[in-house]
Amino acid sequence: MRTVGLTDEVQDYLNRLVPPRDPVLARLEDEAHREDIPIVDTHEGALLYLLVKIAGAKRILELGTATGYSGIWLLRGTNGGSLTTFEVTRERAERARKNFAEAGFGERALVLEENAVTGLEKLDARFDACFIDLLNAFRSEEITQRAAELCLERLDPGGLLMADNALRQGEVLKPKNQQAKNVAFYNDWVAKHPRLESVVIPIRDGLSVARVRD
Ligand SMILES: C[S@@+](CC[C@H](N)C(=O)[O-])C[C@H]1O[C@@H](n2cnc3c(N)ncnc32)[C@H](O)[C@@H]1O
Repeated sequence: MRTVGLTDEVQDYLNRLVPPRDPVLARLEDEAHREDIPIVDTHEGALLYLLVKIAGAKRILELGTATGYSGIWLLRGTNGGSLTTFEVTRERAERARKNFAEAGFGERALVLEENAVTGLEKLDARFDACFIDLLNAFRSEEITQRAAELCLERLDPGGLLMADNALRQGEVLKPKNQQAKNVAFYNDWVAKHPRLESVVIPIRDGLSVARVRD
């Protein structure tokens, strides 16, 4: 998927600036492409890595693991930190565990194989950064809000709350399906939340980045 609204020429130019990928990330990108697994791309992965690194985040929470691609970028941004990540599909969770191990993060990545919302309700832990990558999957705006609140409750001041697909390929302008309605709701919720300062970065399908106020 290219960044929303970018011409082919500009996207090609950006692609040429990407440093050579390491074998694990390259394999995961190829598999995702072949099997139609929705993962972030190299550009967004690099942004997640940098945001985590700049924030000095060590304890990362992720909703939506898939096969571990974004998780590896997030973990690489931490200085010896850890990742707790939710994936409801057993086959993907198992693949993610193997991929984290191959990337050298076997001991630092905890893949919880369950529904992220009910799982988070039981999870008594604090985090420095959270990446939500399943806004599309929620059944309603109410569940979207519940998930967002559960993440925010677990972040301290200075923490990062990030979410993917903030533009839904432009569908957020006139949301017709539940996926786009969830994302539009989330964007509004973040923008108006008194505890958050935020921006949507138009990279790939849009990354919402918010910081918990001091
Ligand atoms: C967009 S993919 C995640 C991609 C991954 N973050 C990456 O970029 O490498 C979303 C994942 O969330 C999982 N998922 C969907 N609904 C879920 C839920 N309620 N709880 C946990 N996982 C869920 C899907 O099976 C899918 O693998």
